[in-house]
Amino acid sequence: MLSMNHVRLAGRRVLIREDLNVPIADGRITDDSRIRAALPTIRLAAESGARVIVVSHLGRPREGEPDPALSLKPVAARLSELLGMRVRLVTDWLRGVDVTEGEVVLCENVRFEDGEKRNDDDLARRMAALCDVYVNDAFATAHRAEASTHGIAKYARTACAGPLLEAEIRALQKVRDNPARPLLAIVGGAKVSTKLAVLESLIKFVDQMIVGGGIANTFMKAAGLRIGRSLCENDLLGIARRLLKAAEARGAAIPLPTDVVCAKTLAADAAATTKPVADVADDDLILDVGPRTSARYAGMLKQAATICWNGPLGVFEYDQFGHGTRALAEGIAASDAYSVAGGGDTLAAIARFGVADRISYISTAGGAFLEYLEGKTLPAVAILEERARAMPDRYHPSEGY
Ligand code: 3PG
Repeated sequence: MLSMNHVRLAGRRVLIREDLNVPIADGRITDDSRIRAALPTIRLAAESGARVIVVSHLGRPREGEPDPALSLKPVAARLSELLGMRVRLVTDWLRGVDVTEGEVVLCENVRFEDGEKRNDDDLARRMAALCDVYVNDAFATAHRAEASTHGIAKYARTACAGPLLEAEIRALQKVRDNPARPLLAIVGGAKVSTKLAVLESLIKFVDQMIVGGGIANTFMKAAGLRIGRSLCENDLLGIARRLLKAAEARGAAIPLPTDVVCAKTLAADAAATTKPVADVADDDLILDVGPRTSARYAGMLKQAATICWNGPLGVFEYDQFGHGTRALAEGIAASDAYSVAGGGDTLAAIARFGVADRISYISTAGGAFLEYLEGKTLPAVAILEERARAMPDRYHPSEGY
């Protein structure tokens, strides 16, 4: 990919696709990490004298029907605060955007435009006509082939990757392509079905894997262990058995909990009981791993040279079921391994347990993080690579492209 760092930006209309799809409740942003992650790119472009046009989606509106609840207005306000300069929100932006050198404007939710999701060619051409340079910095949306992530890159005069997108890929390459070994993956969360592809892929190249949450329950049941009434996908027991065998055959056996924290109901005030797995009762819900299991996982974390973490081990939102995930987060933080974490729940756990500054790289992506690890080609990345291959060699060391 051509890097934004190698492109002359001064005086040019630079359209930056960011992923500013942040959670908003009652008009207030509840987590601004994605906005913060985009700041260095936007700042760099503005400070280089570019005329900066930022584009993002927010949520999943019905196309062609602007929905005030999914307006980027709160994002423009937050961006203004964080950049320390006014960022105008432009609604009618496809007709052309007035922006001066060093100024930053934000276009209204790109998914309000009919054709964005289906990667409509006309829409992509109209977006491309707005800029001299297109920068894709939205790694978290790189698994979507949409007009602002894919089509526009075909038609923009110059199409390049922003520093955030490059950093995300560099971090994930250290896991997927060239990991320091042993490589330990932790895949937690409610359902095997939503993580099946990544489990199948990781099992082929990790040295060790820990599964957590509902995923662990399904694996436990598949291995003949007691799980009571715990969340479990019965239709995937066969697949879980196959994955357990595949891991074992590679010498990367997936350890299953030996003790667990149970309750009779899933509620904030539910009483937690720690017990060996053999004692799990028929009416028990497994909601966390127990201390012996945690200690075993801690030993694995200590030996790892690379750690990739996606998904919690238990219902960490409630303190009494959060010890396993806390111990995991702290173990990763204490480890000397290169560690990468991604996914909404994982980021929430990292924030809750205050370990953010001790994880080597925290990805802004959820779906794209998993698809990259699955080995899939991300369309937004592929098109930038294609453009770079087709690029005439007109690089000037002082001027850039
Ligand atoms: C995400 O939050 O995973 C990205 O912003 C992509 O959003 P989408 O799943 O609505 O395409």
